[in-house]
Amino acid sequence: ADLRLTRIASSIRVIPDFPKPGIKFQDITTLLLQPKVFRDTIDLFVARYKDKGISVVAGVEARGFIFGPPIALAIGAKFVPMRKPNKLPGKVISEEYSLEYGTDRMEMHVGAVEPGEKALVIDDLIATGGTLCAAMNLLEKVGAAVVECACVIELPELNGRKRLGDKPLFVLVKAA
Ligand code: PRP
Ligand code: MG
Repeated sequence: ADLRLTRIASSIRVIPDFPKPGIKFQDITTLLLQPKVFRDTIDLFVARYKDKGISVVAGVEARGFIFGPPIALAIGAKFVPMRKPNKLPGKVISEEYSLEYGTDRMEMHVGAVEPGEKALVIDDLIATGGTLCAAMNLLEKVGAAVVECACVIELPELNGRKRLGDKPLFVLVKAA
């Protein structure tokens, strides 16, 4: 196996009972503290997505804003933020999605992505998959083609991959 993936996996700190009892929080901030590991993380995505004709990297607030921009710069794509409600100042399109309790809304600026563009969706982590589905729905609403969703880490127990249906998902590591 790739030693880089082993180092990425062990750099992610697990915090028990955060934000509430029973949740094992996967904390990627400790990955960011190791420049070589952060560099490897970006390089692995870049190696996969360069020369794929991707013109848009869509990053999901908040932690997709950490990994998305360096990938976008390296592959020569634009970066488009997918934001929490009422943060973007221009005209937006929005998508509701379900959380464990209740719903949330994701927003994207109208005009940021053109019909026919090829998009990559980036976030730090997939749990239930609701967040990535909302991001893909926004991109497809404006006529973009989603090439793939990519995350640093997957929580396989929550079956997020299944929720994405036939949409391809690429992750670097899986939570134990
Ligand atoms: C976390 C994580 C993903 C999402 C995954 O974000 O960063 O974006 O949950 O969950 P899902 O697959 O069940 O949708 P969170 O909503 O906690 O917000 P943050 O990134 O702004 O901290
Ligand atoms: Mg998030």
